[in-house]
Amino acid sequence: MTRTEPGFEAWCTGQAARAEAALAACLPDERQEPARLHEAMRYAALGGGKRVRPLLVYAAGELAEDVAPAALDAAACAVECIHAYSLVHDDLPCMDDDALRRGRPTVHVQYDEATAMLVGDGLQAQAFISLGALDADCLAPAVRVLAAASGSLGMVGGQAIDLSAVGRRLQADELERMHRMKTGALLEASVTLGWLVGHRGEPPPAALSDYARAVGLAFQVVDDILDVEADTATLGKTAGKDADNGKPTYVSVLGLEPARALASELGRRADAALEVFGARAARLRGLADLIVRRTS
Ligand code: IPE
Ligand code: IPE
Ligand code: MG
Ligand code: MG
Ligand code: MG
Repeated sequence: MTRTEPGFEAWCTGQAARAEAALAACLPDERQEPARLHEAMRYAALGGGKRVRPLLVYAAGELAEDVAPAALDAAACAVECIHAYSLVHDDLPCMDDDALRRGRPTVHVQYDEATAMLVGDGLQAQAFISLGALDADCLAPAVRVLAAASGSLGMVGGQAIDLSAVGRRLQADELERMHRMKTGALLEASVTLGWLVGHRGEPPPAALSDYARAVGLAFQVVDDILDVEADTATLGKTAGKDADNGKPTYVSVLGLEPARALASELGRRADAALEVFGARAARLRGLADLIVRRTS
């Protein structure tokens, strides 16, 4: 299945709406004290975003014979809460210093910096509250996977490398490591969580991890390309920010054409890894295609 095949776009729209509803239900009400913090958490997490990570959770869930929809929702919310938190902190003046996210003012602009910091902290905890709804057989592996992908050997570590790389020229292997950590890890975790929930905590087969690693890296390669190629209105975030901030990216290190070729190659690798799963992997296949060819 590719992203242009009949039914795939409708599936994505439906599952993104499902993730939005699950997130809206899992986050504390904005009238609950401290109301300003809860309002800002909901502002950060709701009403925008492509929901690619929840879509990966749902699509990986389809590899199972039978899976409880509420458990997939819990995993999807958890990973999207971590992602939303990472964006709020990524945009802070002490990090990428961005004023626009998902077509709206960033959290520190709309509220204030201290609130943005606390929104991130609150969303991170909320992710694990959400995972707490999982059955005992997959709870511990799911917590391990999400915590590892989020922490200093995953997203947070990648963000630390990203900041220390400003103004430096990275070798291709250093760049790959940074991208796999800051972005790839959470996309990989999304796929793994969808599998774990559907398979009673049994570890995913190597082929699925190969798929997840390929789409995880491809996602940030394409993010780097779009930062150069797309405009601010389309992205809903400030275009050209990487060059302005002196960030090494796949475009600055390899060049635009080789970066495009790498994204396509990663898409092919993801596709090949899914062969063993047959028709059940149709949505995962569509998502790999979407991740490589997306325009925002
Ligand atoms: C942006 O992620 C940040 C990266 C990790 C590259 P997305 O492109 O998934 O952002 P949203 O969720 O759709 O806004
Ligand atoms: C984001 O990388 C990685 C995160 C963990 C949030 P970027 O800094 O390139 O993401 P955007 O382009 O601001 O969305
Ligand atoms: Mg950044
Ligand atoms: Mg950024
Ligand atoms: Mg970017």
